[in-house]
Amino acid sequence: MVTIRKPRSTEGLVRFESVTKRYGNKFAVENLSFEIAQGEVIGFLGPNGAGKTTAMRILAGYFSPTSGRVILDGMDLFREPQRAKRHVGYLPEVVRLYPDMRVREYLRYVAELKGIRPKDIPMEMEEKISLCGLTDVEHRLIGRLSKGFRQRVGLAQALIGDPPVLVLDEPTTGLDPKQIAEIRALIRDLGKRRAVILSTHILPEVSMICNRVIMIHQGKVLASGTVRELESCLKDREAIFVTVPGAQYQETAEEILSKISGVENVRVVERHENEIQFCLETAQDEDLRPEITKFFVESKIPVLEIRRDQLTLEEIFLKLLKDGWFQQRTKIEAKAET
Ligand SMILES: Nc1ncnc2c1ncn2[C@@H]1O[C@H](COP(=O)(O)OP(=O)(O)OP(=O)(O)O)[C@@H](O)[C@H]1O
Ligand SMILES: [Mg+2]
Repeated sequence: MVTIRKPRSTEGLVRFESVTKRYGNKFAVENLSFEIAQGEVIGFLGPNGAGKTTAMRILAGYFSPTSGRVILDGMDLFREPQRAKRHVGYLPEVVRLYPDMRVREYLRYVAELKGIRPKDIPMEMEEKISLCGLTDVEHRLIGRLSKGFRQRVGLAQALIGDPPVLVLDEPTTGLDPKQIAEIRALIRDLGKRRAVILSTHILPEVSMICNRVIMIHQGKVLASGTVRELESCLKDREAIFVTVPGAQYQETAEEILSKISGVENVRVVERHENEIQFCLETAQDEDLRPEITKFFVESKIPVLEIRRDQLTLEEIFLKLLKDGWFQQRTKIEAKAET
């Protein structure tokens, strides 16, 4: 049984207040403000380089922001770092573990570092080993574990000390489907009594685990909303991926695709010497593949692949930007605040 200390306030267990992080002239995170309450699992979304990892590292107390404040359970993370940091567990994007240590030995070491009382350490370890499904590998060397098990060790170390705030940077990357399902179920469960923020590039993951999303772009919060709001805005949309063999076809293919009725947002998603892949957004009820094939045959452009799929998070992001979803959300939020 995991016991969590009652937080001082139930609202805003995490508060980011105008947090900015600059590298030279570049803003990795700019004026970022948001709150996370206990019991919330937040999906932190945004394209590559949006600033997710930077914001999460700041929240984990890895480094200070250039300006702004982070309040963790009422404590200023950078005024009282020692005390505040105990309230947050962090699973980094790349989990760096000690390959020559055994799982148990490593978790004991983490428990000591986190200042757990020596008499509580055995119990604390048992609990986290069992919770993260590590019982079978507890005596194995970390360096010999599979990626999935190493990820679980990463999660176990984040959970030691039962911090009320969990920061998980792409927690399911590199895991197999079974491991992904297990880790997602675990996170969902952990989130019931904590404040969890997790970054991901996988949209179904957000629907499965999170109750709210915060979208960031170029270091700034574009919007936050419930998962249901995000889904309702995306329902009935899907993508068709079309691949042609080489750059010489790009212009004509793009022209053909843009003219097909029902096709929106034609965009090159991958470009290699011998392959160009386009992504087009369509409504779900019409399968445009026969139409696309017909036009390509008529224009004598060879096609390597035509595939229907869900919109990727990047596509969705662009769609939301284009549709003005973020402006609408910001207005709704501004109204709610007044
Ligand atoms: N140590 C650093 N020095 C200079 N620039 C950095 C550093 N760390 C990150 N950046 C820059 O800050 C921006 C935000 O990076 P960050 O890693 O936070 O993005 P991210 O949203 O986590 O991306 P991804 O989805 O690829 O993980 C990027 O433009 C990145 O190049
Ligand atoms: Mg990242």
